[in-house]
Amino acid sequence: MILGIETSCDETAAALVTADGEIVTTVVASQDELHARFGGVVPEVASRRHLELIVPVIEEALGEAEIDAVAVTSHPGLIGALLVGVSAAKALAWARRLPLVPVNHLHGHVASLYLRPLDLEPPFTCLLASGGHTMLVDVQERGGFRVLGTTLDDAAGEAFDKGARLLGLGYPGGKEIDALAKQGDPAAYDFPVARVPGLDFSFSGLKTALLYKVRDLPAAELEARKADLAASYQHAIVRALVERIEATGAERVAVVGGVAANSELRAALPGAALAPLPLCTDNAAMIASAARYAEPVPYPDYLSLDARPTA
Ligand code: KG4
Ligand code: ZN
Repeated sequence: MILGIETSCDETAAALVTADGEIVTTVVASQDELHARFGGVVPEVASRRHLELIVPVIEEALGEAEIDAVAVTSHPGLIGALLVGVSAAKALAWARRLPLVPVNHLHGHVASLYLRPLDLEPPFTCLLASGGHTMLVDVQERGGFRVLGTTLDDAAGEAFDKGARLLGLGYPGGKEIDALAKQGDPAAYDFPVARVPGLDFSFSGLKTALLYKVRDLPAAELEARKADLAASYQHAIVRALVERIEATGAERVAVVGGVAANSELRAALPGAALAPLPLCTDNAAMIASAARYAEPVPYPDYLSLDARPTA
């Protein structure tokens, strides 16, 4: 039994997962509302909230369970946020004389596919699209992956969040645009999809195009066309992601990360393995899942283990 802990951004999460990938408990305390009035995650605010939530969230997930290891996201992420999870994980593992497994958050997203009942077996090509990252990776075995392409500027989730802010929608923006787009026409506006060489992505031009559209529309017109703008903007992001997946020529495709929750993207990839909705956005079950294929650090060697912001 593995206890997973995740605090890399604005979700405080803990989960219990068995060695064969069964989720026993999973608790996610979202800080969305706290950050909404700032229109994005404020790192210092996030760390302070993690401090308040980490013990009750772990207690709720752990209950009276006997565990064999503690897994925690050690990188990449907001350093002050990561440190809360890493410190809690060290303390708990040390007190129980258990091994600690440091987990790469991106490996965690891919490992959301290894949980039951999906239990996906490599090889496959995976799109990892979240608020902080957008990459295509080649997965040959559960212990790792090879990066085929990555974003040159914004992440896809960031494009959703920034677009939502331009349209005066709430935070996080992906969910808001997804909902509003259902009432709009995806062909109403022709937003450009950047075509950069190879398998990389670029979303900054798209965001600028939306900025100009919003600026040029009279206020009343903007209000009336908001759903069309959301639908067209989302369509451009989804098209960029799907085109890149198709460019790999891969037969077995999977999609993970917060943007994998997008309804248009899911509908556009009927043959792909999609992370289950509750496991798309940040959670600790995926971290415990990744720990099954990572190197545990034996007690008490991990006391000097550090978090780091970069992958
Ligand atoms: O994986 P995640 O929870 O955190 C990171 O590791 O970054 O991803 C969060 C991102 C946010 O940018 C959010 O707007 C986006 O995922 N997202 C969505 C949807 N739900 C969340 N984007 C598009 N459509 C959605 N339904
Ligand atoms: Zn994430």
